[in-house]
Amino acid sequence: MRTLVVFFSFEGNTKLVGEAIAKTMDADIVELKTSKQYPTEGFGKFFWGGKSVLFGETPELINEKIDVSKYDTVIIGTPIWAGSFAPPIKSFISQYQMKGKRIALFACHGGGGAKKCFSKLKEAFPENKFIGEIAFVEPKKNTEESSNEAVKWASELQRI
Ligand SMILES: Cc1cc2nc3c(=O)[nH]c(=O)nc-3n(C[C@H](O)[C@H](O)[C@H](O)COP(=O)(O)O)c2cc1C
Repeated sequence: MRTLVVFFSFEGNTKLVGEAIAKTMDADIVELKTSKQYPTEGFGKFFWGGKSVLFGETPELINEKIDVSKYDTVIIGTPIWAGSFAPPIKSFISQYQMKGKRIALFACHGGGGAKKCFSKLKEAFPENKFIGEIAFVEPKKNTEESSNEAVKWASELQRI
């Protein structure tokens, strides 16, 4: 059985970490993409993204269907939006069956919300075994340090 790293990244931080984790674990990796385009600049960026979280939106994913049956471990990565996980992750959760899989979580943020984000994600998978969680503060501003931390965490996960 294999490991899947699945993530959404709006501005590249979660992607940076996800790629380091997948490379370390020789895992498959899927970046979730949506048909809905969030504004990338100014006030609109936080307003529309935050609103999407608060309204519980599940934006349409345009990825090819993922064969999750190949994986016994799924590592889910998200930027923190409005103290929670980003809406495309909610879409992933509602589309794919994670029964029996081991799950690990990683999140990127600008200063806060990781604890709440992780507990909300755990609520979404009440029957799964969680094998790890880790949060990063703006990895693109500390690329080397964040990559090293991600590699270390991924190596530890491999031993579980
Ligand atoms: C819509 C939106 C909401 C955000 N909400 C939070 C938040 O509640 N707490 C926080 O620390 N950072 C927040 N951020 C900052 C991002 O979590 C942070 O920049 C993260 O590293 C982005 O990851 P990405 O580049 O993979 O998209 C928010 C960013 C956006 C665009």
